[in-house]
Amino acid sequence: MYKTLLTDLSDNIFTITINRPDKLNALNKAVMDELGQVVDEIYSNKDIRSAIITGAGQRAFVAGADISEFQGLTKEEGQALAAKGQDIFMRIASSPKPIAAAIHGFALGGGCELAMACHFRLCSQDAKFGQPEVNLGLIPGYGGTQRLTQLVGRGRAIEIMLSARMVEATEAHVMGLVNYIVEEPNELLTKTRELLSIINEKAPIAIARIIECANIAAGDGTGARNGFSTDDNWEADPFGGGATPTHSSAARDAHGNVRHGGGSDTSGITDSEGGSNVRNGFAREQEAFGECFATEDMKEGAAAFLAKRKPKFTGQ
Ligand code: COA
Repeated sequence: MYKTLLTDLSDNIFTITINRPDKLNALNKAVMDELGQVVDEIYSNKDIRSAIITGAGQRAFVAGADISEFQGLTKEEGQALAAKGQDIFMRIASSPKPIAAAIHGFALGGGCELAMACHFRLCSQDAKFGQPEVNLGLIPGYGGTQRLTQLVGRGRAIEIMLSARMVEATEAHVMGLVNYIVEEPNELLTKTRELLSIINEKAPIAIARIIECANIAAGDGTGARNGFSTDDNWEADPFGGGATPTHSSAARDAHGNVRHGGGSDTSGITDSEGGSNVRNGFAREQEAFGECFATEDMKEGAAAFLAKRKPKFTGQ
C-alpha cells in the first residue's frame, strides 16, 4: 500500500518503518506524503491503539530531510516545505493515540524532528541525534527549533543547533531527549512494544486528554505563545469515527485544536494581545478531568479498583 513505508499492525500496535535504507531513510517528498497518509491511518483505524515510528536498515532512524530536493528552491518554496513538514509532524504530536519513536543510528535534522514530534523516544546505544542544518546554511524547519528547546532547554538546544554536533545516546538520555536507552539493539522494537502494551491497557479517552493537556504545557500549537506557524486542520477524536481533515474553525480554539465542552477559558488568563481565549492548560485540564467523569471507562476504572480487579477499558 505504501511505497516508502513498511507497516505492521499486531496487538493493536501499528509499526511504521521508513524504508529507504540506502539513503539512510532521508525524508524525501514521497516519504513525507506517505507519512501524512499513515498519520491519517493512525487517527482513523480503530484497531490501532498506539504506534511506533522507526527506520529500516542498520544505520539510521532518519538522516534528515532529503538534501537532494533542496537545490533550486525559492524562499517561498522553502517556507512551503517547512509548513508541510510542520503540519505532518504536528499531527503526529497531536495524535490522541500514543506514538513512540524507536531510534537506532542517525536521527539527524528532520529525523531528530520526527523523533521529537513523537510522544516519547526509545533508542539503542548507537543512536546519534543532531540538528546539523546550519552546516547547509539552513535552520531546522520541521519544528526542531521549538521541540528541541522544549525538550532539552534553551541553552542546550541553541548550542546543539549552532554547533551542528552529534549527541550520543547517553547524553541524549541525560538531557531528556530520550526516555530510555535499550542496551541490546535488536531489542529496541521489543522494548518499545512492551511499553506500548502497558499503555494500551489504559483508558483511551484519558490517554488522549493527557496528551492534549501535556501538548498545551509544552507549547505545541498554543496560539500567542506559538513558535510554529501552522494551520492545524485535524480533528483529534480517536474513537468517534476517526479523524477527518477539516477547514472549519467553528469547533476549534484559537490554536487549531478541537474544542471540548465549549472550550472556554475559565482561568481568566489573557494572552499578551489582550485576548481572553488563550488556551490555558490548567483550564483545559479542569474541563478534560470533568469529561473523564462522563466516560464509561472512568466508572469501570473506579469500580475495578474498589472490587480489587483489573479494569477492562473500552474507549467509551
Ligand atoms: N539527504 C539525502 N541523502 C542523504 C541524506 C540526506 N539527509 N543523508 C544521507 N544521504 C545519503 C547519502 O547521500 C548517501 O547516498 P549515496 O550512497 O547515493 O551517495 C547515503 O545516504 C549514505 O550516506 P553517506 O553520507 O555516504 O554515509 P556516511 O556514513 O558517510 O555519513 C551521515 C552519514 C549521516 C553523517 C551523512 O550521510 C550526513 O551528514 N547526512 C546528512 C545529515 C544532514 O545534514 N541532515 C539534515 C538535512 S536538513
